[in-house]
Amino acid sequence: MFINKLPSCLEAICMVVKMIIFPLIRHKSRIIVFIEEAVKLDELQSLWKFSINNVCLLSDSQFLMPGLVDTHIHASQYVYTGTALDLGLLEWLEKYTFPIESTFKDLKFAEHAYTKAVHRVVKSGTTTACYFATIHLQGTIKLCQIISDVGQRALVGKVNMDCNSPDFYQEDSTDSIQDTERFVETLLNQGNANLIPVLTPRFALTCTPKLMSALGEIAASHNLPIQSHLGESKGELDAVRSMHPGYDSYSDVYDKCGLLTSRTIMAHCIYLTEDELNLLKTRGVGVSHCPNSNTSIRSGLMDARDMLDRGIKLGLGTDVSGGYHPSMLDAMRQAIQVSNIVSFEHHEGENYKPLDYREVFRLATLGGSQVLNLEDKIGNFEVGKEFDALLVNFEALDSPFDVFERDTLEDKIQKFIFLGDDRNIEEVYVAGKNITCNNKLHCKLH
Ligand code: GUN
Ligand code: FE
Repeated sequence: MFINKLPSCLEAICMVVKMIIFPLIRHKSRIIVFIEEAVKLDELQSLWKFSINNVCLLSDSQFLMPGLVDTHIHASQYVYTGTALDLGLLEWLEKYTFPIESTFKDLKFAEHAYTKAVHRVVKSGTTTACYFATIHLQGTIKLCQIISDVGQRALVGKVNMDCNSPDFYQEDSTDSIQDTERFVETLLNQGNANLIPVLTPRFALTCTPKLMSALGEIAASHNLPIQSHLGESKGELDAVRSMHPGYDSYSDVYDKCGLLTSRTIMAHCIYLTEDELNLLKTRGVGVSHCPNSNTSIRSGLMDARDMLDRGIKLGLGTDVSGGYHPSMLDAMRQAIQVSNIVSFEHHEGENYKPLDYREVFRLATLGGSQVLNLEDKIGNFEVGKEFDALLVNFEALDSPFDVFERDTLEDKIQKFIFLGDDRNIEEVYVAGKNITCNNKLHCKLH
């Protein structure tokens, strides 16, 4: 490092972190070691806690931030990301999604498509993802192997659907339950604590109450997470009402089947009644806000501020490929845009505060960890948590934005959130292990 002036106290601390402590963490898996060795000085404490939620400045151009958490993504839909956005949800499922997902029966194709998907997601800085696969057991196990080889932290679900689906993409209820049990067993026995099975009834329109109740029981018996879709589009709401007439609400269908627990992640949740919101809060359900998807397939505008005010756990999801972008930086931007639109369309003249960049940063890290019930392990740089982190360079080669001398650190972080991309993400760490360097994965597949 070239020193052309005497460093201030703060600069000296940064240098110590960069030259001594940072190399150390490459070999330590737990942040407790890293922080306890580093944080002897009060000044450094304040550095860790730097204004927006746990960012560590390493030099004028580099900083460390907690890894990004995608709370809702369909790995199988990555193949057609950025296309097929001309239809609303139910037609989109029928015309594009079900036919494409059905091709994952072919294991060779599944391996190829999942490898591309996971690599893209990891390079985008997503250290933890909550994935939907397809209904196919072997393909879903293949997805898990790919994630494991890359070293990403993930929840993975074999999709369940036993009604209202095309013949070529529907399961028999009994097979669906048996395959799910086999999937759960396989994953629980593979010895990777960073890979968690998640029960995945696709949504109330493609699952019978019998299937959903069986999945609820499997989840309860192993204390496992559950993920699904809820309150996404008006057409879907009408269809759920006519398919499940005996229930109080869409949420009540899931609740009666034992699917609303403190380990449940529900995507979208745009159109919920007061009673449903109260039910989610009472059950401790987490919500995945997917702003790109909600506007791209024109489902609607979710009021994230209202969710936060109610104290419902909230994280962000890309929802690839209803959402066209696999990066959580995009999800952060879109969450701000949607919140701005909600503020002037629905709350004009009120004292309504749209989400700002600090809040979306928090939602994409700590918020996501809460939704996935991983808050005790990841989400920020608290002592005792595992080191899932991104090394970001504002001045990386080919950076898509420029920084100027007048920019404060916070300005630079804002520029990264609004304008940055994987060219700025120089290194990705999961549980202290460096899994990408200069956008190249370290796994043997690459
Ligand atoms: N509802 C049921 N399945 C899906 C899906 O694959 N994507 C989205 N966005 N909503 C769904
Ligand atoms: Fe989805």
